Amino acid sequence: MTDGPGRLPVESEPRTLDLDRADAYGRSFADVYDRWYHDISDADATARFVARRCRGGPVLELGVGSGRLARPLAALGLSVIGLDGSAEMLDRCRRAAGPGSISLVRGDMRALPFRRSQRGSSTGVIGGALIAFNTLFNLTSEAEQFSLLSEVAGLVDHRGAIIIETIDVSPLLVGPSRSIGVRDRDRNGLVVTATRLDVEARTITGQHLEISDRGVSIRPWKLRWLTTDHLDRLTASAGLRLTERHGSWTEQPDEAHPDTHISVYRRAEGP
Ligand SMILES: C[S@@+](CC[C@H](N)C(=O)[O-])C[C@H]1O[C@@H](n2cnc3c(N)ncnc32)[C@H](O)[C@@H]1O
Repeated sequence: MTDGPGRLPVESEPRTLDLDRADAYGRSFADVYDRWYHDISDADATARFVARRCRGGPVLELGVGSGRLARPLAALGLSVIGLDGSAEMLDRCRRAAGPGSISLVRGDMRALPFRRSQRGSSTGVIGGALIAFNTLFNLTSEAEQFSLLSEVAGLVDHRGAIIIETIDVSPLLVGPSRSIGVRDRDRNGLVVTATRLDVEARTITGQHLEISDRGVSIRPWKLRWLTTDHLDRLTASAGLRLTERHGSWTEQPDEAHPDTHISVYRRAEGP
């Protein structure tokens, strides 16, 4: 590989990934996550929103990533457990948060490593759960999404809440099943995005091709989207009921921000 004028070094090992692995997202994005997404949403407002609703034990953040949300939660004095499938993401979280402030667990959302509370008991083992920034969509089949919601419903205290942030993916669903977008993601780089749509399976498989002064990186990803109607049906089958829906972490009405939905669910048999 030559790095002469006009030439860019290309990564010697392109990222070909099994996109259904629990660490697939982290392998694609851990090195750029904080640079690209540190201000994707209001992390302090998220922490305040969650702290007001989660009682009766620690807050479990599923897909804690680099700790963007877990750190402000811990700073409010909450006990936080962060689960993630990516060792790289967890390393970043550990380094940024400092030792001991967040309990980090490496695990797969498809097989949570926590023991449920006894059936029929109103006391849960967690005071609440946060599944933010489309993390639920990283599970790419309905069975996996349902299984996670059922597991979390069996863990949460009857006074607690399961808080799920999803985006409206309809802008990604127009046109033919392939699209290419180009955007500047940082000062010295450019990202070309190509996506492939499977309407029946409700999945979007994409590649971000990043071209920067560090070379060319291919960052594959896959998501399975849910509308709020789908989400409400799935959560109801998992024994949860919707108690609030907002369009932002500062509780603006859902209709005011049709691109973001923050849904709060509680145990169906709770108060
Ligand atoms: C979109 S990021 C969100 C990170 C963080 N919650 C935030 O808002 O900044 C999704 C996270 O979920 C993790 N993840 C994806 N699939 C997973 C799985 N099957 N099990 C555990 N973690 C998973 C990824 O490694 C990544 O850190």
